[in-house]
Amino acid sequence: MSYLSTEQKPKMPITLSTLQKFKANGEKFSCLTCYDASFAAAMQTADIDTILIGDSLGMVVQGKSSTLPVTVADMTYHTANVARANNHALIISDLPFMSVATLDRAIEASLAVMQAGANMVKIEGGSELCDIVSVLSNNGVPVCVHLGLTPQSVNVLGGYKVQGKTDDEAQKLLDDCQKLVQAGASMLLLECVPSGLAKAVTDSVPVPVIGIGAGVDTDGQVLVMHDMLGVYTRKPAKFVKDFLSDKDNETHDIVGAFKNYHMAVKNKTFPTAEHSF
Ligand code: KIV
Repeated sequence: MSYLSTEQKPKMPITLSTLQKFKANGEKFSCLTCYDASFAAAMQTADIDTILIGDSLGMVVQGKSSTLPVTVADMTYHTANVARANNHALIISDLPFMSVATLDRAIEASLAVMQAGANMVKIEGGSELCDIVSVLSNNGVPVCVHLGLTPQSVNVLGGYKVQGKTDDEAQKLLDDCQKLVQAGASMLLLECVPSGLAKAVTDSVPVPVIGIGAGVDTDGQVLVMHDMLGVYTRKPAKFVKDFLSDKDNETHDIVGAFKNYHMAVKNKTFPTAEHSF
């Protein structure tokens, strides 16, 4: 059985230049996390622009209490499963906890997920990553840097909390973003930061910025797939919306939820103030 059904019309692959054009034209792009072939194919049917194989799989797939136990082998396995079933979305893979602690580890981990089918890697941190970003991007690995609430640092941050609330923190985030883009970052991801700060970052960098809990003004939006399907075992975060049971999902099915999410991002009707900080 092929996960790319014969009914799927060929679709143009979304590339980094597509996302650059979207940014230039003010068109938003959708991103969802995904970890397997069946959901990756459903996301292709729904036209989702970008897919993140997030290390959130440690929680939503493996049942662990954080992302810290996830390995490069886990990321490689799930990236290959997704890439096999979707040839439309730009595929971004997380490099898991400690895999960018040294340049050698970052190169090994990037090699593994890129050879499994990723189009880009995502790493968590700030301007301390500039050298790694530079080496990876100079060697054909586009890099997305995840700033704000960085779940791999939960033990340093003291919990999953909104970041960038003070003037000093906000300025540091803005400066880090500038430095990372200068070092070669092709994309930024902001998690749980005030909407005004996310807008300031988005307006000040030439690369696409994805947000989660960062307001409506970033260039793209991402949600964890299980969250937006209402599949959670703990109270969902403020930025989550359940698109499966939403009254606008007339088909009441998963592809309908993905399509409505995609359109809500494009039309800027998601996120609202209710989902933002
Ligand atoms: O791992 C993940 O799913 C993520 C998202 C929360 C952005 O990094």
